[in-house]
Amino acid sequence: MLFRSGLVPTMGALHEGHLSLVRLARRDNTLVAASVFVNPKQFAPGEDLETYPAHATWERDLAALEAAGVDFVFAPSAEAMYPRGSGVMTPFVDLVGVDALGEGASRPGFFRGVATVVSKLLNILQPSCLYLGQKDGLQCVVVSSLIDELNFPTRLVVGPTVREADGLAMSSRNVYLDATQRAVAPAVYAALCKLQDVHSLGERDPEALRRAAASVIAREPLMTLEYVSLADTADGQELDSRLGGEDALASIAVRLGDVKLIDNVLLASD
Ligand code: PAF
Repeated sequence: MLFRSGLVPTMGALHEGHLSLVRLARRDNTLVAASVFVNPKQFAPGEDLETYPAHATWERDLAALEAAGVDFVFAPSAEAMYPRGSGVMTPFVDLVGVDALGEGASRPGFFRGVATVVSKLLNILQPSCLYLGQKDGLQCVVVSSLIDELNFPTRLVVGPTVREADGLAMSSRNVYLDATQRAVAPAVYAALCKLQDVHSLGERDPEALRRAAASVIAREPLMTLEYVSLADTADGQELDSRLGGEDALASIAVRLGDVKLIDNVLLASD
């Protein structure tokens, strides 16, 4: 068999979504690596860099990775990854226009940080395959574009979103939800399911599809809708005319107290 290596990049605070990617990688590769690095360049001032749950889960994460069959864990310090910090002559990898799209518009600079760290991880570890979860839908589109355009010799494999029994997409940040918030959190996926139902009944007007999802969130007094996005899966561009020949990424972001929840589903083309 040809030697192949797989990389599952993570920021720690691992859950079943990460471990399902490790299992996918284990199936396809001779050697499986995981990275654990809370990337400061993808956090804006005022976000949760200092309190990110991974700071407390290192031992547990390591044990889970080992049990899932990871051969090698790469866990650099911020100083090792970014020896010059953010000073003069530090490079960034940026994608033109990404901050105008969906999650990019809601977190300016975020995808620049992701593209920079993923480029560094690909250069350092040189994996044959990179494994990302569909949960971060636009991140998958961004990294796919990065790999194509910068000619990384790596194949992107996207694993399905892993959900709790009530539909809530697994996320390291779900631990921030208190009991009341956790009880209403499944409405995020319910909103996407409503959008999907309306689409399967033949609705192709993006605005009507966005309204269908928004109407579910509007019934939840604790929730504030940040956006519902319908984007082209090829380039993340928002779709404003009738859906038809392209696959669409339907994404949602909701505020629940201080916690932001994001989720998405794919809509197949006609
Ligand atoms: O999805 C994540 O956990 C991060 O954005 C990633 C891909 C590990 C880059 O820091």
